[in-house]
Amino acid sequence: MPLNPQLDDLSDYPFEALRTLLGRVVPRVNDAPIAMSLGEPQHQPPALLAETLAAHAQDWNKYPPMAGTPELRQAIVEWLTRRYRLGGGMLDPDRHVLSLAGTKEGLYLLASLVVPRRKGGGRPVVLVPNPYYLVYNGAATMAGADPVFLDATQSNGFMPDLAAIPRSVLERTALFYLCSPANPQGTVASLDYLKQAVALARLYDFVLAVDECYAEIYDGAPPPGALEACAALGDGFDRVLAFHSLSKRSSAAGLRSGFVAGDSRLIAQFAQLRSYGGCQVPLPVQAASTALWRDEAHVEENRARYRRKFDIAEAAIGGNFGFYRPQGGFFLWLDVGDGETATVRLWRDAAIRVLPGGYTARAAHGRDNPGRQYIRLAVVHDEATLTAAFARIRRVL
Ligand SMILES: Cc1ncc(COP(=O)(O)O)c(C=O)c1O
Repeated sequence: MPLNPQLDDLSDYPFEALRTLLGRVVPRVNDAPIAMSLGEPQHQPPALLAETLAAHAQDWNKYPPMAGTPELRQAIVEWLTRRYRLGGGMLDPDRHVLSLAGTKEGLYLLASLVVPRRKGGGRPVVLVPNPYYLVYNGAATMAGADPVFLDATQSNGFMPDLAAIPRSVLERTALFYLCSPANPQGTVASLDYLKQAVALARLYDFVLAVDECYAEIYDGAPPPGALEACAALGDGFDRVLAFHSLSKRSSAAGLRSGFVAGDSRLIAQFAQLRSYGGCQVPLPVQAASTALWRDEAHVEENRARYRRKFDIAEAAIGGNFGFYRPQGGFFLWLDVGDGETATVRLWRDAAIRVLPGGYTARAAHGRDNPGRQYIRLAVVHDEATLTAAFARIRRVL
């Protein structure tokens, strides 16, 4: 049966590769298994979510508006304006915001919106940070672009070096996926960095998509955002889109609710494309999302709980494995020499499942896989579980 040949270029799904690696490994200890491989929030979302869903139970029979209800878009605009100190009136709920069924589908579909057949006299390029969230690479590949991997390593502060991207690549670039706070390294792009990325997008006529789905889980100052960078540059949101989600902010990954905001021309075309291939967000979910974007108390509590988890991590393994407190997000990116070996050892001798860093990165353009020496741990469990997990990690590694 002939299938889309582009499928052959998709890399192994990291969790499939992990299952293969650990398939025959049986833990030798009686400890309860702890899965730190998956970035799934473990906190309960606030009661507000279930209450609002229940209060809108009469709406399940209706087809929801693709772009989001006016109430949801208004709540999002108010949140963005507060969060990124945007001038009042900069964002118009009718023109700058689109509701998404979680950011994953929007990030994926974006590539088919903005990747042309050719760009700059050659095959179009999609810039992907390396390590990366696998959707960027998958979306670029399926849209027929050449993904160009920008290594984000310790030597460049775990953020792609913008100045090192060759001009010939920038001229062919149609889309740049940037993630801040970054999964997996937790690095936050500074406002200056974001401004430079926006300026590059405008100079070389490509779309900058900034995945900010971890923006509300941070250790120190709130991470700046792409729209804030646009406001600082003062030229509107031309060529820039920011993606946000309730999955992490409100521990509501199952709700499937996020949004994209920015360039009004792109948003209008995105809305059109999504009416063919996107997922509508059900009306009760839109109502619950409206309530969640309007509430900050549960977000502050959530953030404080993550900070305590990182206190536990720091007390247990600080000073080892290149430990640093991530500026944002909820992952630890630990230098263990060889990520696969450490992963097998942790599962066999401590019943702890982690992700080898190399599975979320790739060797590209003649360079080594920049994740090979790392493991990624999701620091999401309750404090007692984490205390036990880090004690086991110390024992085994
Ligand atoms: C970097 C990054 N972007 C986007 C997503 C997708 O999140 P959602 O579709 O739940 O909004 C994830 C989920 O793990 C992620 O890690």
